[in-house]
Amino acid sequence: MEQRSQWGTRIGFLLAAIGSAVGLGNIWRFPATAFENGGGAFFVPYLFALLTAGIPLLIMEYTIGHKYRSSSPRSFSKISKGMEWIGWWQVLISFVISTYYPIIIAWSIMYTYFSFGTKWGDDPTAFFVSDFLNKSDAGIFGSIVPSVLIPVIFVWIFVFFFLGRGVKKGIEFANRIFIPTLLIVFIIIVIRALTLPGAMEGLDAFFKPDWSRIMDGSVWIAAYGQIFFSLSIAFAIMITYASYLPKKSDITNNAFITGFANSSFELLAGIGVFAVLGFMATQTSQPVSEVVQSGVGLAFMVFPEIISQMPASSFFGVLFFGALVLAGISSMISISETYIAAVQEKFSISRGKALMFGGGLAFLASLLYANQGGLNLLDTVDYFINNYGVALAGLFEVVAIAWFAKGLRDLQTHADNISDIKLGIWWRISLGAITPVVLGFMMLQNLKTDLS
Ligand code: PFF
Ligand code: NA
Repeated sequence: MEQRSQWGTRIGFLLAAIGSAVGLGNIWRFPATAFENGGGAFFVPYLFALLTAGIPLLIMEYTIGHKYRSSSPRSFSKISKGMEWIGWWQVLISFVISTYYPIIIAWSIMYTYFSFGTKWGDDPTAFFVSDFLNKSDAGIFGSIVPSVLIPVIFVWIFVFFFLGRGVKKGIEFANRIFIPTLLIVFIIIVIRALTLPGAMEGLDAFFKPDWSRIMDGSVWIAAYGQIFFSLSIAFAIMITYASYLPKKSDITNNAFITGFANSSFELLAGIGVFAVLGFMATQTSQPVSEVVQSGVGLAFMVFPEIISQMPASSFFGVLFFGALVLAGISSMISISETYIAAVQEKFSISRGKALMFGGGLAFLASLLYANQGGLNLLDTVDYFINNYGVALAGLFEVVAIAWFAKGLRDLQTHADNISDIKLGIWWRISLGAITPVVLGFMMLQNLKTDLS
């Protein structure tokens, strides 16, 4: 039998896990979420969620992967035959995300290029909506060369290249370069942002605590939601990555490091984004709260406008959009690895064949979004994946293991045997009670909003 691939070093695994975790969620989701949910006061539910759900779940997924040394579906089937589908559900979600993630990375590549000479002109919003999206939406079979198609293909070539080279020479190697680079880029951006006029007003708005929000249930839901998404939990990623760990690995310690590293990137991004928003508010004589945005609007409409107004704008633009590309590709590699590993094991085929088959299918599916209608499709798919797919995956996972398989003690023994920090009752309560209740509540809340 072919020997299971392994990470070259402990730091290699950590960088890959951090590479998966650190993504668009840190850069464009966290800052606005924190701001809208109590500012400085948000850090209380956020830290609570990190310690009662994020890190406990990371430990659980790392332990599952390490103990069963398999992709997510096979790991679950080893826990109990009837649970294999939970792994496939997670893999399916990752597959779907990997079909539209490349589009956003492709936009970031285009905008890295546009940064030279700020090609978005005087009205970046109009440029993005009318010029950029309309030009790039000529469709797969459109008569104009669809400009986003080329960077999308480029992203896939990258992904195939690194995944094709395997765990150590591909995934580990890529993250060894990407993550330190990303950290340096983040630090340069933050320093630059902090020295802009108005930066302090921005930080003031970001950190000012609104303690009145702390009893608000929706704030707590937002904190847990941010933690789940941001740590790439319940996507089959962390199980797959941990299955490549050597036998002797301190699981618990690795989970704490991953969790805190991801949050540090989040905090850093929050500081950078709000310093820049403070600058924007000053330039346009508006309150900071008027210019706060998240997601696509923040990255492709607000940021270009701010970048244009800054000295050395091209340089700053390349750094910002380059950071999106690096963060995006390392996450993209991790989601794609889940189904390649799963397909390879299920059908006992080579890694190369699994990559051709799984990656090829995802590549073809991603072309569906590279046109006008595709944009609406992307929004809809993204909404359902984030609001139902992932929450359900997390819920299935903890309920199956904690309640049905009664498997927490087994996993705890496994983790404790190889880890310095021993898991106590805190860990079992977090997974057996707190996490399922919060996830169940989150689902109901989403259903309520959607049905009303
Ligand atoms: N954890 C990533 C972030 O915070 O941006 C998002 C993510 C990456 C989600 C990969 C899902 C995934 F498969
Ligand atoms: Na993250």
